[in-house]
This record gives sequence, C-alpha cells and structure tokens, in this order.
Amino acid sequence: MYDSFRTILRVLCFVRIELNKDLKPFNTFGLSSVSERLIHLSQPAELDEYFNEYRELPTLVLGGGSNMLLTRDLPGTTLRIEFPGIELIHEDSDHYYVKVGAGVVWHDFVLVAISKGWAGVENLSLIPGSVGAAPMQNIGAYGVEIKEVFDSLDAFIIEDKRFETFSKNDCKFGYRESVFKRELKNRAIISSVTFKLNKTPKFNTSYGAIDAELERMKVSEVSIKAVSDAVIAIRQSKLPDPKKIGNSGSFFKNPVITTSHFNVLKEDFPEIVGYEGGEGLTKVAAGWLIEKAGYKGKRIGNYGVHDRQALVLVNHGGATGADVLALSDEIISAIKSQFKIELEREVNII
Ligand code: EPU
Repeated sequence: MYDSFRTILRVLCFVRIELNKDLKPFNTFGLSSVSERLIHLSQPAELDEYFNEYRELPTLVLGGGSNMLLTRDLPGTTLRIEFPGIELIHEDSDHYYVKVGAGVVWHDFVLVAISKGWAGVENLSLIPGSVGAAPMQNIGAYGVEIKEVFDSLDAFIIEDKRFETFSKNDCKFGYRESVFKRELKNRAIISSVTFKLNKTPKFNTSYGAIDAELERMKVSEVSIKAVSDAVIAIRQSKLPDPKKIGNSGSFFKNPVITTSHFNVLKEDFPEIVGYEGGEGLTKVAAGWLIEKAGYKGKRIGNYGVHDRQALVLVNHGGATGADVLALSDEIISAIKSQFKIELEREVNII
C-alpha cells in the first residue's frame, strides 16, 4: 500500500493530491464523504499517466458532483476531472464546432455560447454539473436534449489505456441514457465534448412555460439570450439552488409505462400527467405521482422532498446520503403500491 502510494506521488507530483478529504464541497447534495485520496487532474494527459503508472482503479470519478448520492466514505482514489477550455475548432455555413473540456462548468459554457451567438444550448441553461458529465445521461430540459447539439466526444478507455473518439451513434443516447451509463459504465472517462451549434437559432419554446415566461418578461423579439433568461427564471422558481439547499435535480426518471396501464390509471386519477413515450408507451410525470402520494414538501429532520418540485429530494443541511437513500426507497415503495409503477433513480448511488 505504502509503495503504491509512493508511486502515485512520484508519477503525479505535478497534480494536486489531498488525503482524507471530505467531498462535501464537491457534490451538489452537500453530503459528507471522506475520500482517502482526492486527485485533481487538470489536463487529459494526466489520465494517461495515472492509468499507465498506477494500476488501482479509482473508486470514483468526479465531475461537477451534481448527479450522485454519496452514501459512504470512499477508500482508495477519487479522480476529479478539471480539464478546462472552450475552443471554436471549425465552422461551416450552418454550424460552429466547439470543443469543450470535460471540467468546464456546464452553465459557464452555456453563458459563453450565448455571448458568442452559438445557438442550441439556451434551453439547457442553469443545469448543474460539468460538461464531461452532460453526455453520460444525455442531459435535457425544456424540450431539448444534449444529443441535439452533440457532435462527438473524446474519452479515455481505462482497460485499453488510450483515448477514443465517439460519434453521436456510438454514444447510444436515450432519455437520460447513454453507453457511458451502460456498457461503458466505470470503463471510460470523458475528457472533452465537441458541440455542433447553430449559426441560425432554431427556437424551441414549445415547452409551455417558456412562452409564458417570455410574455411575462415582455420580450418582443425572441433571442437565445431571452430564451436562456426565461429558462433560468423558470428553473429558479421551481428548483432549489444547490448552493443554498443541497440537491441533485430530478432524483428519479419519469417512468415509461404502457399506454393501456396509463389509461387504467387515468380512470382513477383523471388529472394524471403523461406524454407520448414511443409506440404504445406513455411517459408519466414522476413529480405528479410523488405529489399525489403525499410526499411533496415532506420534511424529515434535515432532509426531505422539495416543496415546489416533488421529483427533487433535498438536504437541508447535515443529512447523510443513507437518510436520503432510505427516503427514496420509501417513495419507490409508495408509488409501486399506489400506482403499480416502478420508479427508477436518476442519480448514481455511490
Ligand atoms: N408535477 C407535479 N408535481 C410536482 C412536479 C411536477 O404535478 O411536484 C407535474 C407538473 O405539473 C407538470 C409535470 O409534472 O405537469 C412535469 O413537470 P416539470 O415541467 O417540472 O418537469 P419534470 O418532468 O418533472 C423534467 C426533467 C427536469 C427538467 C424538466 C423541464 C426528468 C427526470 N426531469 O422534469 O430535469 O428540468 O423536465 O424540462 O426528466 C433534472 O434532470 O435534474 C431535471 C431537473
């Protein structure tokens, strides 16, 4: 153990290593979890060096820490990906191709895109997390998913110890899904993402609340800045700010059930909210189910369910990941017994 640790120190003498570090500042839920070794990596080449010289797999690879529930202390190594850079690498008549380091804060990238007139990510304003984590679960909000502006990404394949480029097809994007959550789970580390952004904006304000917000803001001419401002206002009105109340955004996915099951539920609950979810399938608003089951705004000591969006579990300060996990188990059971629907967690349980 001592020898291997000395190896890391020798090899990674240029990177920042912290011992027995509480990850509380590095996860948006604000949960304490002590990492035996936290290694900050500031450029992709350091991945190469880490995996070539040091054989122990990291216990955790951390980006913005916005989609995880830390339930325990972590032995071994946590790698924090902090690769910077937002670079316009190419353009054609319709698009800008912009390569972004995995460690860039997602919303910082959105703000740069808006200031440069690169269109396509305005609906994805204010989503917490890093650019490298965004394709993992194909982040989406207000009618847009990252796959719509995705060109390619570079990832380090741990077992092969080399970087590989992934096209949109290679990523197998689905609703809050990608190959990096399935076949390549714990096997690849995204180092950069290249976006294909539009020169001429294609506004997507179909999501009802955006139009209403633009009207409230008295916007006469829609622009990517105006759409971004509207999305920010909507998010701020519904979703807790992780800097003030710990959370990971939607804790569960919206479940997809058969339309016949949905129609049966609709007889008992005419106000149930569902959307077309593919042939013969309906995607149900999990927030509605959780609210109907009586959990919206429920507080158990220092944790609970957000009072304005039941899909979001919150840490009011001092909760443990185990507390929040137990609450999520209870909600899953309640929804199963009341609606015969199995909710799936969106956050990663560590
Ligand atoms: N609803 C309720 N009660 C609630 C919450 C929602 O009845 O407590 C109903 C609403 O009235 C509405 C429907 O559910 O009719 C949908 O609600 P909302 O527009 O808030 O969207 P969502 O389906 O709950 C999804 C994403 C969010 C994203 C919004 C907006 C998932 C799991 N969540 O939530 O993403 O911001 O749409 O596009 O798909 C995230 O992933 O962290 C996240 C916040």
